[in-house]
Amino acid sequence: MQAIKTLIAAAAVTMVAILGFAYSGAYDISADSPHSGFTKWLFSTTKHASVERQASNVEVPDLSDEALILAGVNDFNGMCAECHGAPGRAAEAMAKGMNPAPPDLAEEVLELSAAELFWVTKHGIKMTGMPAWGVTHDDDTIWPIIAFITTLPELDAAQYEKMLARAGGLGHHADASAHADEPPQEPDEHNYSTNEH
Ligand code: HEC
Repeated sequence: MQAIKTLIAAAAVTMVAILGFAYSGAYDISADSPHSGFTKWLFSTTKHASVERQASNVEVPDLSDEALILAGVNDFNGMCAECHGAPGRAAEAMAKGMNPAPPDLAEEVLELSAAELFWVTKHGIKMTGMPAWGVTHDDDTIWPIIAFITTLPELDAAQYEKMLARAGGLGHHADASAHADEPPQEPDEHNYSTNEH
């Protein structure tokens, strides 16, 4: 009985300490201050265990198909490269201010299975800048991107640019030449742009 009372008292003290800490404002929430070693360990361990478990039900299609890989390159360039960078292309300025920083996917694909890569891309990661692409994109759009990113470790800048050129028109982030056969847009009747005056 005494042991139970002591346990309850200890739990109450811990709760009060956690609430006190949360309300005090003592924690530095700024993105430009580094995480403590403990926070890093806790977040990374929780993330890896969660991704591994959740991805265990994902069925992976054949990703070695060259057409599938090519179909993913434009969408990778339009949806991922601004944060993660691409061969020969740096990530945009915004990515440098993110905490945690978006990792180089050429390294990430060596650590994660295809099922895990798919799961992370579809569902995102809470409290980081990694978006859940599945909210706006179906699985058939996401798999080509996964097929493409698994080739990143062997891809140099020249090969990447060549692939982008070959993939004209593929994916919904296809380049402008994909729309070359569409009629040009009529100029807006009300042109408010200041450089005309
Ligand atoms: C707005 C920025 C942003 C965009 C756009 C973005 N990501 Fe991320 N991504 C992140 C951040 C930040 C992380 C790091 C999260 C972390 O450390 O847990 C991340 C992590 C990842 C990881 C590693 C997950 C892990 O377990 O470490 C993968 C894989 C990934 N992103 C894939 C993609 C793919 C594929 C796309 C495009 C479809 C994409 N990301 C677009 C910001 C972004």
